[in-house]
Amino acid sequence: MVVSIPNLTPVQNASVNTVVERFNVSTDRLKKITEQFVIEMRKGLDHQGATIAMIPSFVSGRCTGEEKGTFMALDLGGTNLRVCQVNLLGGGEHTIRQQKYVVSEELKVGPMRNLCDFIADCVDSFLTENGLGDSNEPIQLGYTFSFPILQTSINRGVLKQWTKGFNCTGAVGKDPTILLQDSFRRKNINVNIAAIVNDTVGTLMAYAYKHPNTTMGVIMGTGFNASYYEDMNNVKKWTGDKNQEMVINMECGAFDCERRVLPMTVYDNKMDRESINVHQQLHEKMVAGMYLGEITRNALLDLVDQQILFGGDSSKELNKNWSFETAYMSTIEVDETSDLSDTGHILESVMNIPSTTLADRQIVKAVCHAVGLRAARIAACHIAGVLTHTNKLGEESIIAIDGSLFEFYPNFEKNMSQALSEIIGEESRSKVKFDLARDGSGLGAAIIAMIASKH
Ligand code: GLC
Repeated sequence: MVVSIPNLTPVQNASVNTVVERFNVSTDRLKKITEQFVIEMRKGLDHQGATIAMIPSFVSGRCTGEEKGTFMALDLGGTNLRVCQVNLLGGGEHTIRQQKYVVSEELKVGPMRNLCDFIADCVDSFLTENGLGDSNEPIQLGYTFSFPILQTSINRGVLKQWTKGFNCTGAVGKDPTILLQDSFRRKNINVNIAAIVNDTVGTLMAYAYKHPNTTMGVIMGTGFNASYYEDMNNVKKWTGDKNQEMVINMECGAFDCERRVLPMTVYDNKMDRESINVHQQLHEKMVAGMYLGEITRNALLDLVDQQILFGGDSSKELNKNWSFETAYMSTIEVDETSDLSDTGHILESVMNIPSTTLADRQIVKAVCHAVGLRAARIAACHIAGVLTHTNKLGEESIIAIDGSLFEFYPNFEKNMSQALSEIIGEESRSKVKFDLARDGSGLGAAIIAMIASKH
């Protein structure tokens, strides 16, 4: 992609192009990333402690859609905490009642006990408001906890590390189920955590409830991760029954923390250095909504410093880390007004740049486009990797995807499909169907709680 902005001198245009070019990912590079991804998947299946953790989820067997009953679900790890009551009706149908609660920045980095007490209070008020929880029988709950949990059973495991800006103390190396169950007990809330579920696994199960052929669950939102069905004969590190299929929570956002193949730019490095998990989750940091705005901000500031953008002056807002949200990039990318007035509004009214020229807005739009396009192209690699590893190239595959980036970011799906076609060929690509599985993880966690409470 070559950018040519009228009103800029050839030298200025060349500088803009240098920045934009840094985000270009060639077909060759996509193929290299995919190859390395397949190698790393294998390592994760073979032994503990690999970069991609490849965690057996203890969810085995496929959904039939005939599962029935009423269960609760919690969903922690995205923008909000969600508490849900799910009624599985069979025939692939369900109803859901849910309430969202904001998790404050303070709770995200404070003591884990406070976070658990907050969650327990939210559950308590949900039960009270909906007239639930009076029976002597405990309510069975599926806990979607969207962080890397090294599971030891369907409702046990330890937190490997925090991701996505959470950093509570007293949690790493501990079992989040036990900690939350303890808060429930202290507050006399009659709820039993029957299952702990990653959001990708919940998304896969939720979509499979209606479409049993679903093969992968993917989250492309605040964070980025995927799960898929694996034949446990292929999992060397697994010591349980090998003759079964199980959903694997890949934790693939951690891919390439060795920085072998991902095309890190100076802007990625700067963002990474300022994040709370330096040199971790590098794949996630190139794809997920939490990070794209910050990478863009770094690139824009480079152009400001070269005196090509905003006459060489930034603003207090733009200078602030994490101030440029990925949602702004979406708005800017869809701005088709002749004077890019929506872009102007974000820059002037939200980021407080005193005034912007049309050329400024065009530059900002080109940078947003480059960062968003790279995210979609890099996201295609893990799908190509899973299809290659599972020998599914050329077969029909349904991939359930949830998350704001996939749902709202302009052309994300189209760009990802294009990149996938470059990696695996158009014929194989045409067999892959991406489906939006909105808010699937609550439903999925309820289904898994149901399966778990039957055993
Ligand atoms: C992060 C978490 C992972 C989760 C993903 C999407 O990568 O580590 O568990 O699935 O975000 O929310």
